[in-house]
Formats: sequence, structure tokens, C-alpha cells
Amino acid sequence: METLGPLLTPPAAPFDPRELRPGASEVWLEAGFGAGEHLAAQAARHPEVLSLGAEPFVNGFAACLAHIDDAGLDNVRLLHGDVRELMSRLPAACLSRIYVLFPDPWPKTRHKKRRLIEPAFVADAARLLRPGGSLRFATDWADYADWTLERFARSPDFRWTAEAADDWRRPPADHVTTRYEAKRLGDCAPIWLEFERV
Ligand SMILES: C[S@@+](CC[C@H](N)C(=O)[O-])C[C@H]1O[C@@H](n2cnc3c(N)ncnc32)[C@H](O)[C@@H]1O
Repeated sequence: METLGPLLTPPAAPFDPRELRPGASEVWLEAGFGAGEHLAAQAARHPEVLSLGAEPFVNGFAACLAHIDDAGLDNVRLLHGDVRELMSRLPAACLSRIYVLFPDPWPKTRHKKRRLIEPAFVADAARLLRPGGSLRFATDWADYADWTLERFARSPDFRWTAEAADDWRRPPADHVTTRYEAKRLGDCAPIWLEFERV
């Protein structure tokens, strides 16, 4: 696997991200990081973690590179492309966290099949997370929250961690507001779903 600064070349073969930064305590992945403000802020807070991200939107990708450069981060590797491609090349149990923050909602019925959260994504996330690892999902579309809960509930590999309504109504304490989130384009207040890999 070759890297040029923070850039991952499109992975043609399986690779182990832990070899990109020997000594990293954990590897995290952010799917569809948009302009990368969350990814860069988390990476700055956690220099001991290697943060991976994938985003096909070129303007967002460039904005994230600027955040990384501004903050002088050396613990980030980014793929300009589809996160599912990247996930398919990673080995089992190599990740501790996955973030899926405000994915494209595709609210129209005929477009819902384009949603990122579908059974194959859930299965690959289960394969990649170590036991005790977590996936954080956020949306401001009520129907996408229901959709996601249904798909994770069908997986024996995940447990929804919420114990009280505030656990899904309030942003987690370590959350960093994203650009899309701030626009409030959805049909409800943001909903936060945290799933633990059992
Ligand atoms: C609604 S935006 C949210 C961006 C960011 N997470 C935020 O909250 O500001 C969804 C993003 O997911 C990206 N995306 C869509 N499909 C993707 C995929 N298969 N792999 C990686 N990113 C994807 C889009 O390009 C877009 O930037």
C-alpha cells in the first residue's frame, strides 16, 4: 500500500492499515467525511490513533486536505473514492471505530436503495470492527434513523447502546459539528445511533 502524505492510492489489493503507522493504538474510519472538519478535529485530539477516511466529492476531499495541512496532522490517510472499496480491502477486526455522519439521505422511496446503510455495509462493518469497537451513525432524517436501526437490529454482531432517549437525542460528548449537520436540511433534529460490535 503506497501513501503520499495523507493520500491513500486506490487500494487494488488487501492491506493492513496498522502497517501505515506502526505504533498507532487504534485505527478509526470515517465514511463520507464531506469537508472533513470532524475527521480532522478527531485526529488532532487523538494523535495516537490512525484515522482513515474516504470521500468521493472532490471539493470536500480538498477541504479536508486543507484542514490536515493547517493542523499539521500526520495521523490521517484519505482515499478519494468509495468507502466500500476501502472497506473491502481491510482485514478483519482492524478498526476500533467507524463514523457514518449524516450520510446522503436519499429520502425519495425510489432512491432509498442508494443509501449507504444496507445489509452488505453492516456485514462489512461487523467484519472490520474488533469486539467492543463501535459504529456511530447520525442523521437528521427520521426515516433514515428507523431504516438504520432496522438493519443493525437484524445483525447479531451489533448491539444498540442507547439506554435512555437522550442517548439518541443528544450529540455524544466528543462530537464535532459537521458542515452538513449545521445546515439542518433534514426533517428532524439530529438523531445519534451508537452500535457496539459484540
Ligand atoms: C450529506 S454529506 C455529509 C458529509 C459529512 N459527513 C458531513 O456531515 O458534513 C454525505 C457525504 O457522503 C459522501 N458519500 C456518498 N457515498 C459515499 C461512499 N460510497 N463512500 C464515501 N463517501 C460517500 C458524499 O460524497 C457526501 O460528501
